[in-house]
Amino acid sequence: MAETGTLHDAFLDELRDAYDAEKQLTKALPLLAKAATSPDLRTAFESHLEETRGHIERLEQVFANLGEKVQAKHCDGIAGIIQEGKAVMEEDFDEATMDACLIAGGQRAEHYEMAAYGTLIAWAQAMGHMDAADLLQQTLDEEKAADEKLSALAEGGINQEAADAAHSDEEQQDDEGRAAKKAGAAASSKMASRRR
Ligand SMILES: [Fe+2]
Ligand SMILES: [Fe+2]
Repeated sequence: MAETGTLHDAFLDELRDAYDAEKQLTKALPLLAKAATSPDLRTAFESHLEETRGHIERLEQVFANLGEKVQAKHCDGIAGIIQEGKAVMEEDFDEATMDACLIAGGQRAEHYEMAAYGTLIAWAQAMGHMDAADLLQQTLDEEKAADEKLSALAEGGINQEAADAAHSDEEQQDDEGRAAKKAGAAASSKMASRRR
């Protein structure tokens, strides 16, 4: 096969992939919002849905800037992440645990997008497509903010609520076990540092 594909072709391919991923996410985010019990988590998914619609528009603008027609190419990666999220939603978890799992799934999607946009921006900059790089950077910033928001919600109460529900009975016992483990770990790290 003749080797005629360039980084520009790979760039267009990745743009089409990202475009399809964003479209898939506009269908998945309402499901996450509906499954969430925490009102703040629901709001986070809903507001990221709005942002995601903006990501689609920005990608359309990037295609236009490059003189290319808007095209989607099926994104298998995000399809897999969405599939896993749907499987979790079918589980019979308590409310806080389900919220923690929805966050976990949502963050997988955000990290996938962050990786994709990071690459797209680096390639756009390398090829001098500065308008495209700027637009893509705006989206990357929103993906990062969405990811941080999900971390804040998880660490700001949802994880602990789920953990409390998991350990309410054996709490005492577990705390003792953890303390013993900690003491053991401290002793072995002391030994390791002495060996150095
Ligand atoms: Fe996005
Ligand atoms: Fe996103």
